[in-house]
Amino acid sequence: MLNPGQRIGENGHLFIGECDVTTLASEYGTPLYVMNENVIRNNCRAFVSAFDKYYGGNGRAYFASKAFSCLEIYRIVKEEGMGVDVVSGGELYTAMKAGFPAEKINFHGNNKTYLELKMAIEYGVGKIIVDNYEEFGTISEIAKALNKKVEVAIRIKPGVEAHTHDYIKTGQIDSKFGFAIENEEAYRAVEKALEYKDNIILNGVHCHIGSQIFDVVPFADAAEIMMDFVAEIRNRYGVEIIELNLGGGFGIKYIDSDEPKNFENYIEIVSDAVKSKAKEHSMKVPFVSIEPGRSIVGEAGVTLYTVGGIKNIPGVRTYVSVDGGMGDNIRYALYQAEYTVINALKADKECINKVTIAGKCCESGDLIQENVMIADTLPGDILAVLSTGAYNYSMSSNYNRIPRPAVVMVKDDSHRVIVKRESYEDLIKNDI
Ligand code: LLP
Repeated sequence: MLNPGQRIGENGHLFIGECDVTTLASEYGTPLYVMNENVIRNNCRAFVSAFDKYYGGNGRAYFASKAFSCLEIYRIVKEEGMGVDVVSGGELYTAMKAGFPAEKINFHGNNKTYLELKMAIEYGVGKIIVDNYEEFGTISEIAKALNKKVEVAIRIKPGVEAHTHDYIKTGQIDSKFGFAIENEEAYRAVEKALEYKDNIILNGVHCHIGSQIFDVVPFADAAEIMMDFVAEIRNRYGVEIIELNLGGGFGIKYIDSDEPKNFENYIEIVSDAVKSKAKEHSMKVPFVSIEPGRSIVGEAGVTLYTVGGIKNIPGVRTYVSVDGGMGDNIRYALYQAEYTVINALKADKECINKVTIAGKCCESGDLIQENVMIADTLPGDILAVLSTGAYNYSMSSNYNRIPRPAVVMVKDDSHRVIVKRESYEDLIKNDI
């Protein structure tokens, strides 16, 4: 399998855009994250144009920047006309430093700190998505001191079952995120917001049912439940909710058998659900927002590694060790996430060897992938792990004091560093 913007060259090497990945590996070193700008931009455009088509401009796609956060990505997303969602002071700071318009930033998080909220309110972010009762009081206190009114949405658990890994499910009642409708806590949250109406404008509701979801049905179900909730808020409190944010979660292709829908398909089905519910409840169709993260950057990314030691344990398995590991990709250790691995020098060769790709950390669970088929592989070969654009760099760590890899952005036949490789000096810069 290859992703959009990738091909096998006549020399049998993997190409990203018009760049031979082995050239990138020798120029920048490995491990290396490589992102393809055209793919990112095309994904943004697919969401923006589907929104125009189905909501006629009465909606917005926000990039969930937890999937990949650095200055350059905010610049690209801004140019493509999307908003962004941030979940920490750090993401917010990065977005602002990149010149992202504050009013197109939504601020999330189940436990935002006082200082983070103050920062968001001072910057004037578009909306704060409130995720616990205590936050209303804090926001109100800060807003009052700054003589501002703050627009908020409430994060709701719609109680929808999404078919994905347990750790990335969020729509069900047993979740640290949001307020449930079924036990009325969502209504308590509305009441709490109304207590602070001098400084808080409650005009949005939000839900996010999980991540890496292929099925359209749970998204449409969630949209219907949320629209019923919006109607009930109007009926009980006379409050008009003008924005419905339905979160992200659209699945992407990691391995051959993954079959993601095209994004337009989700948007069409969900917009039908929203519009028919608006009719049923005699309401205006709200401004609809979504927050794709993985589906914007995931397939645009590849991680390149150099093969080091190969350990063939007869009757057991063959470990192919690479110069990165769980520090740059924690997703196999955390979620048993599946990936496609290609020998980038022999991308045209048959994959005849079943191997386990191991990282270099002092941890048995430091595996990139188990039992994958690859071409005959030798020490010094370059391995490419596909679909690593989302939640790889953003979840990276310095475990074992291994510096984080650089991130290189490819555009057609050009390439540039957008995040420098960490140095040993970087590793000790906060040590005293
Ligand atoms: N909106 C909210 C409120 C979210 O919590 C998330 C993801 C998104 C949007 C974006 O979801 P996406 O479109 O990327 O699926 N680290 C995990 C994924 C965690 C997702 C957390 N929230 C992974 O590597 O699979």
